[in-house]
Amino acid sequence: MAGPDAVPAPILEAESVALAALHAAAFPPAEAWGPDAIGLMLSMAGGFGFQLAGQGFILARAVAGEAEVLTLAVAPAARRRGVASRLLAAALAGAASRGAQAIFLEVSYANIAARALYGAAGFVQVGIRRRYYADGTDALVLRHPLSAA
Ligand SMILES: CC(C)(COP(=O)(O)OP(=O)(O)OC[C@H]1O[C@@H](n2cnc3c(N)ncnc32)[C@H](O)[C@@H]1OP(=O)(O)O)[C@@H](O)C(=O)NCCC(=O)NCCS
Repeated sequence: MAGPDAVPAPILEAESVALAALHAAAFPPAEAWGPDAIGLMLSMAGGFGFQLAGQGFILARAVAGEAEVLTLAVAPAARRRGVASRLLAAALAGAASRGAQAIFLEVSYANIAARALYGAAGFVQVGIRRRYYADGTDALVLRHPLSAA
């Protein structure tokens, strides 16, 4: 497992099985992504990700000057130690280095932890998708500007 000062490492497609286990630990069963879904995201044009082994990972995509956070998962036992903040910073830098001028994401209105994380990282709400999730909650669309690395 990565130590407290570890730097997020780029994800390889071959790591999808271990990442799926982490995703299942972080999300409710209905929202967990299997190895195939994770592999697919990584193989998409512009797809990339970073991990802190055994603790958490982030997947993102950068295409045509815009980037999107696809998922962010931190194991329950590793939370509130800055893991997500470090992964997010790595993804922002990775998106900027791929030529993106802004990065977007969707987060449930009900996800207080993630909304606090993204707000602290400088994301700003730019839209709302009403009843976006299966349980009827709205999704907030957040944006963070990027400058060239
Ligand atoms: C949301 C999540 C990624 C946060 O991961 P984390 O590693 O615990 O986050 P960090 O330790 O980097 O927290 C950074 C800041 O975010 C905010 N934050 C994180 N968790 C929080 C919580 N449970 N309640 C309130 N604020 C929270 C705080 O401002 C925190 O700073 P602080 O600890 O100095 O107060 C994690 O809880 C998770 O995996 N949740 C389930 C999956 C999920 O919701 N993913 C995001 C989907 S959009």
